[in-house]
Amino acid sequence: MDFFRGKAVYITGGSSGIGFAAARLLAGFGAHVAISARGKERLEVALQEMKRAARAPHQKLLAIACDVSDPKECARATQETLAGLGGCDVVVANAGVTHPSRVLETPDEVYERMMRINYFGTVHTVRAFLPHLFAQRRGRIGIVSSMLGFMGIYGYSAYAASKFAQVGFAECLRQECLDHGVGITLLYPPDTDTPQLAEENKIKPPETKAIAGEVKTMSPEDVAGELLAGIASGALNVVPGGMGKLTYLAKRVAPGLVNWVTDGALKKYRRAHADRP
Ligand SMILES: NC(=O)c1ccc[n+]([C@@H]2O[C@H](COP(=O)([O-])OP(=O)(O)OC[C@H]3O[C@@H](n4cnc5c(N)ncnc54)[C@H](OP(=O)(O)O)[C@@H]3O)[C@@H](O)[C@H]2O)c1
Repeated sequence: MDFFRGKAVYITGGSSGIGFAAARLLAGFGAHVAISARGKERLEVALQEMKRAARAPHQKLLAIACDVSDPKECARATQETLAGLGGCDVVVANAGVTHPSRVLETPDEVYERMMRINYFGTVHTVRAFLPHLFAQRRGRIGIVSSMLGFMGIYGYSAYAASKFAQVGFAECLRQECLDHGVGITLLYPPDTDTPQLAEENKIKPPETKAIAGEVKTMSPEDVAGELLAGIASGALNVVPGGMGKLTYLAKRVAPGLVNWVTDGALKKYRRAHADRP
């Protein structure tokens, strides 16, 4: 993707999954890339992979330890990125966590953690870079939400609320950015084959599995590819995959249909397990 050649890009959650796939692709496109995450070991492994994937030896590639839930750490990571890459053209707020469980079985701490990392992590990251992007009067911001940022299903109340919150923030941000030459892209991934999905599959209520089983799992490379294509073209909403696009459209024009399909999967599960306690 020629758009990214020579551009400076910062990605949170760049040590794993979708963020890492995006960072590796960007290195291959000739971008200067800074990734951040909390765990230093995975960051170092990711950085070495990015160096292997780089298009040219002069590309600047950085790994920065940062917890996005802390605004001071986000401010420091921003300064390190601007100094290390010599500026910043594209910011991707991708870091996120999940914890599926039923409403009454979800501890308060989980509701708070989802908001702290997924929502406030996005807000802190964007706000730390915004003065720089506004001052240079150009830039792009990618925000990684989820299909659960436009629809809710069984077991995802804490996570979906944080993903809907990102969308509300981004829609307002889009309009404020119009005067400053900065574009917003919102990504709504479906189930994607990453360490996060592997972890959440271990604790998902069986009802959630029965419903989510209807959605096809995508590779992090394909999802990251759609994210970067969306940022390059200036698209506002990007839903990776055919099933995701269809669901997004259905949710907008016929929301009852989406509930009918997911409720149907739940009822099917209940019928199949009616004899069990
Ligand atoms: N995988 C899916 O099925 C799926 C579907 C829809 C949306 N998404 C969204 O896509 C994004 C990436 O998910 P993924 O599946 O690629 O997950 P992943 O493989 O688990 O990677 C998550 C990344 O975020 C980092 N991270 C987590 N908490 C952080 C914090 N407090 N501060 C800074 N970095 C943090 C992780 O590193 P450390 O833990 O070392 O900090 C890691 O680099 C998330 O926003 C997720 O909600 C994923």
